[in-house]
Amino acid sequence: MAEVRFLVSKYNSETDAKPRLQEFRLDPPQGATLLDCLNLIKWKLDGTLSFRMSCRSAICGSCAVRVNGHARLACKTQAADAVIDGRVTIEPLGNMTLIRDLVVDLEPFWASVEKVRPWLVPDDSKKYERERLQSHHDQLKIDAASTCIMCASCFSDCNVMEVDPKFLGPAALAKAQRFVFDTRDAEKWDRLELLGQIHGMWDCTHCAECSTRCPTDAKPLERITELRRAAMAAGMTDNNAARHVLGFRESIGGFKGIGGSGMLNENYLPVRSMGLSIGGILSLIPVGLRMFARKKNPPLIPHVIEKVGEVRKMFRRFDEYNKEGEK
Ligand code: SF4
Ligand code: SF4
Ligand code: FES
Repeated sequence: MAEVRFLVSKYNSETDAKPRLQEFRLDPPQGATLLDCLNLIKWKLDGTLSFRMSCRSAICGSCAVRVNGHARLACKTQAADAVIDGRVTIEPLGNMTLIRDLVVDLEPFWASVEKVRPWLVPDDSKKYERERLQSHHDQLKIDAASTCIMCASCFSDCNVMEVDPKFLGPAALAKAQRFVFDTRDAEKWDRLELLGQIHGMWDCTHCAECSTRCPTDAKPLERITELRRAAMAAGMTDNNAARHVLGFRESIGGFKGIGGSGMLNENYLPVRSMGLSIGGILSLIPVGLRMFARKKNPPLIPHVIEKVGEVRKMFRRFDEYNKEGEK
């Protein structure tokens, strides 16, 4: 490979007010990963460069950094794939305090995971003669989440974490899914209650950044969706976000024998989301008045689309499919 310009973030809290990008020029050997390149820079060009690494095999999760603005495992990224116009930028993970160069303080990440009690609570009411066996079918429910290597890439790039540091975060939620769906665990419902609280699973905005950045099959957004489905199937819908989901479903596809209109009813949705909260409903009035003044208000009588029967049929199929999936 031709010479590459590596722009690597450098920061020393004793001498620097803020991080800066330092350029290192290197001719990466054939097949080199970004971690190989960081090591070469450290050994040959700047012995002070600080970064984390251990396994070099995408197993330990310690080498995650931001490459060209997005979290990736340095040891799983070929340098040739990361170079754009002859250069690559390597910075520390986001949403955590910087300690030095590419090293961040992972404490908030570990604290978020700890909040979901990431350990099995055995069901002592069951009698086991030997170890607690699990069927292949049941194992598959937690297989994906079990592949998490705790690299914090998802935590780094989560948009909600950026504005709400109290948000549980994608890794903790993926870890929670692993225990909620574990048939040997005794605390499924308590766990779902906890996850349903403010800063929990309903605060995720579905941006999918976590799943895009995740280097394993853990894919947090998919796990969050499974948690939400489980909560809704159990009737845990007493919060704005769950009611919002129900509002979509009801206004488009109908419910309890009442047919939906085939399209979103924008008058119904916000009121449905607020539930029985008078304060919540009153808070919608100023928005409604502004929409009315600007002639942006949706029609009071919802329009029913031409092929609404097809849409209702689709929703019935979804319901059947979901019931199958719960078995
Ligand atoms: S999908 Fe949700 S948890 Fe994942 S990064 Fe986006 S907001 Fe965060
Ligand atoms: S869910 Fe994926 S991105 Fe997040 S910590 Fe686990 S392995 Fe890393
Ligand atoms: S060094 Fe272990 S995951 Fe990269």
